Amino acid sequence: MTHSLRIITTPYCAFTQGAGTLRLRLVFYYVRTAACVLWRYFMHIFKVLMGQIRQYKRSTLLTPVFTLLEVVMEILIPYITASLIDQGIEGGSMDKVLHFGLIMLLMAFASLFFGIMSGTFASDASTGFAANLRQSMYENIQTFSFSNIDKYSTPGLVTRMTTDVTNVQNAFMMIIRIAVRAPFMMIISLIMCVKINPRVSVVFLVALLVLAVVLVLIIGHATKAFRRAFRRYDDLNASVQENVSAIRVVKAFVREDYEGQKFTKAAEQLYQMFTKAQKLVVLNMPVMTLVVDFSIIAVSWMSAHFIVQGTMTTGELTSLLSYVMNVLFSLMMLSFIFVMITMSTASAQRICEVLEEQPDIVNPEDPVMHVKDGSIDFEDVDFAYKRRNVSYDDDGNEIITVEDVTKDRADETLHAINLHIRSGETVGIIGGTGSGKSSLVSLISRLYDPVNGTVRVGGRDVREYDLEVLRNEVSVVLQQNTLFSGTILDNLRWGKEDATLEECREACRLACADEFIDRFPDGYETRITQGGTNVSGGQKQRLCIARALLKKPKVLILDDSTSACDTATDSKIRKAFATKIPGTTKLIIAQRVSSVQDADRIIVLDGGTVTAFDTHENLLETNAIYKEIYESQVQGGGDFDEASLSDHFEKAPAAAGQDKPAQQSGRKEAAE
Ligand SMILES: Nc1ncnc2c1ncn2[C@@H]1O[C@H](COP(=O)(O)OP(=O)(O)OP(=O)(O)O)[C@@H](O)[C@H]1O
Ligand SMILES: [Mg+2]
Repeated sequence: MTHSLRIITTPYCAFTQGAGTLRLRLVFYYVRTAACVLWRYFMHIFKVLMGQIRQYKRSTLLTPVFTLLEVVMEILIPYITASLIDQGIEGGSMDKVLHFGLIMLLMAFASLFFGIMSGTFASDASTGFAANLRQSMYENIQTFSFSNIDKYSTPGLVTRMTTDVTNVQNAFMMIIRIAVRAPFMMIISLIMCVKINPRVSVVFLVALLVLAVVLVLIIGHATKAFRRAFRRYDDLNASVQENVSAIRVVKAFVREDYEGQKFTKAAEQLYQMFTKAQKLVVLNMPVMTLVVDFSIIAVSWMSAHFIVQGTMTTGELTSLLSYVMNVLFSLMMLSFIFVMITMSTASAQRICEVLEEQPDIVNPEDPVMHVKDGSIDFEDVDFAYKRRNVSYDDDGNEIITVEDVTKDRADETLHAINLHIRSGETVGIIGGTGSGKSSLVSLISRLYDPVNGTVRVGGRDVREYDLEVLRNEVSVVLQQNTLFSGTILDNLRWGKEDATLEECREACRLACADEFIDRFPDGYETRITQGGTNVSGGQKQRLCIARALLKKPKVLILDDSTSACDTATDSKIRKAFATKIPGTTKLIIAQRVSSVQDADRIIVLDGGTVTAFDTHENLLETNAIYKEIYESQVQGGGDFDEASLSDHFEKAPAAAGQDKPAQQSGRKEAAE
């Protein structure tokens, strides 16, 4: 409202001050442009969302049809009442009373029937629409590449699929039902009023105007307040999801009180914001009652005069009052819908973002469906992650933008990587935290695409393969791996749907998982809780390895996947790999030199650059740093990270590897 006032006063001042019509035109130009932008914005959201109605088109169309029929009945009833009073009661004819009474009864039943039908179709259409929205969002999220996933936070996606969808669902229901009913009811009632008595109707046209102005004022402020409140609601949701899923970490760090206070503060803020918004909306009701009462008094007063003069009947007065109520009630409904729609626009926009997000890694036009062998080549590969920026608009809505990788930071994470790995070779990868080990291997199964250069598997560019074929042949046990709720067997069959029990057992034997599974009373039918919280970190890692092995891949990548296993098990797994799957190319990322020392060759990564790629023996001879780290770990039992390359240069050489408690060896936070 303040905006529109400013818009009106600016040209007025310009005009009176004789600043010419130029400024006036400029103002109109801005207003028109802003209106066009807003219109395009709404139409875009509208188009995307309407595309999701799909199989519920019939219900969506039938709802307003039945609503209109219901309204027609409701409008006609007061009209018949007038005839009943005038011709039946005042005219003293019992036949007429019965005649009109029967018609009214039939109309009331018809109205009830149409109301039930419109309600049924409305709930079918709106819940179906919400289900479609959720399904489409979910399906699109499944096509996201890792870099798409990096853009949205997990709680953010959950909020979009829950709270936001519910907001839009409610607004949709309102639109197809009440947004059709209210204006129709208002217009027809207005016509009926004018038809009954044009002079009396003037009273309540004035009332309508007063009410409209008051409502616009209230809505203008309430919408803003609600938008802010809903934004807080999202924050609260996000905080609950994050803290409840990380409850173990919260407990481990004894942060319950802190988290509790944080939550109380957020809840308190939410309470205050909603109260503020509601306070404005509840004003609607008293204002409405006041205007209605005044209108009724005025209409009755004027009608009394007309009745005395004999220009109006008592029946007409009764129906006139009903129509007055109808019009004002419709206006109130419209105001609520308006608040609801504006409130849900932010939600609708967030849903559209997810629906329209294009996966940036897609299948090529004519994909290669066969991976020849497990050879891997990196040719001049540079890689950097896209940057994610989060900002907030005036209403506090989150705006996420992703910056594409610019030329000057193309090699920020990985720089000029050239590697040639033979099929069937076992390659160890070692390097400090953040040196780019996980990033390097993620390019092989095309979880990300390199910025420059080419990654080849089986002699062909990974971008030429069908994604499913490539990812089935290049099996990655991710550093942050997870198990799903279900039995152990269900989890294993994630790797290969039709795997037999014997195949699963074989994979578990290779991953040294059979020994603990057999100790469980339910064996392979043991239920794993969500996130795999009822198995130990090492057990979880072994199950994840078994799951990857079931695919019988040509390339197997283990990203720090045995860090939570004891050294003996670690060595046993590697030995099993060497003898049982000799043809598979194995890439083993580890923090412990002992985990990679019997690999055919070892890649030493530092700050995104390959500093050496050779056998353990050669590295010991030619690479002083590697040698020192090896010795420090053998003697001190520390892991690679505690004597990382960068540390090595910073600290005095003699200090590297000292003061490392043996029990810490390799025990990273693998249980994540
Ligand atoms: N999804 C991501 N988005 C943005 N930057 C990332 C992402 N993943 C990793 N990075 C950054 O890229 C760099 C390399 O990370 P990477 O995970 O490859 O290291 P790493 O060698 O595997 O480390 P660690 O031994 O701790 O697993 C780090 O500086 C990290 O902050
Ligand atoms: Mg890593």
